[in-house]
Amino acid sequence: MPNEGSYEAAMRRSNEIQADLGVHPEKYCMLTGDRPTGRLHLGHYFGTLRERVRLQDMGIRTNVIIADYQVITDRDTTEHIADNVLNMVIDYLACGIDPAKTMIFAHSAVPALNQLMLPFLSLVSEAELHRNPTVKAEQEASGHTLTGLLLTYPVHQACDILFCKGNIVPVGRDQLPHIEQTRLIARRFNERYGQVFPNVDGLLTSTPMIPGLDGRKMSKSYGNAISLSMTDAETTKLIRKSRTDSERNITFDPENRPGVSALLTTAGICTGRDPEEIATEIGMGGAGQLKRYVTEAVNDYFAPIRERRHELEQDMGYIHDVLADGNRRANEIANATLDEVRAAMGMVY
Ligand code: TRP
Repeated sequence: MPNEGSYEAAMRRSNEIQADLGVHPEKYCMLTGDRPTGRLHLGHYFGTLRERVRLQDMGIRTNVIIADYQVITDRDTTEHIADNVLNMVIDYLACGIDPAKTMIFAHSAVPALNQLMLPFLSLVSEAELHRNPTVKAEQEASGHTLTGLLLTYPVHQACDILFCKGNIVPVGRDQLPHIEQTRLIARRFNERYGQVFPNVDGLLTSTPMIPGLDGRKMSKSYGNAISLSMTDAETTKLIRKSRTDSERNITFDPENRPGVSALLTTAGICTGRDPEEIATEIGMGGAGQLKRYVTEAVNDYFAPIRERRHELEQDMGYIHDVLADGNRRANEIANATLDEVRAAMGMVY
């Protein structure tokens, strides 16, 4: 990791905020979101969705952006985008995100948010954009040429966070450079034009990242992801065909036995048990018994969420209404912030 010092500092800040959230929920405004490239999976659920619900239920202002424009940062098509966006709303609601408490909206539906891009771009240098490690990693992973949209990713993400004066952003460690860029933009704007934007902190998640079924990062493109929207039968099939290894005795050893260990981690997180303990219990029962155990753990845990998901799917009118209402509220907030920005810049004619 490039900047250990700043990681330590971010961690310390994050811990202080975690401790303060319950004491002063009114001080905090959370923004986070997802790219609508497909269905949400267990990695999203345990990595962030569950945390969003927790923050929402603590009375913190919570905002979730469906980052549709980000889909084209590293690909050439918007195929299935409407379907993906609506299903993302369904996934959110099924997991317990409550639209009465959390504002759910689409990036492309909020023009004033996007207009922050122009003043913000004037506050960053080209070298800064090229240095961002997350942008570099994303570009390499995509195998696509670096588009201007991907290069300026940290700037549009700053717009997403700052339009609603978000001051906490739940992130994984790899996303910290984006938060740093947002802090810089806010600070530079305030210094140049007067105080408009808050100080932003990353809320580092303590849950270990849940691996995909092959031990790699869970991702739809690797075919190793269990989606929230899968049926029990689809889940069973995916787990059954996941790769383990030839050693019968089940042990927890992520380094040398990625497949077996990923199954144990998944079972552990769904049952609240220690993966090592599950391994010992199964022992010579082998991969077959392990797979049956994981399948049951996942299907039991997600049964209520999937049932709710199924009900929501029957009422697409409601899903459209939730999004339209979120978009309307986001526009009100974005228009007010943009007015403040223009006033600070003396652009009131
Ligand atoms: N980039 C995030 C993702 O890939 C989604 C996102 C868009 C986001 N804007 C954001 C996350 C602002 C945090 C803050 O899923």
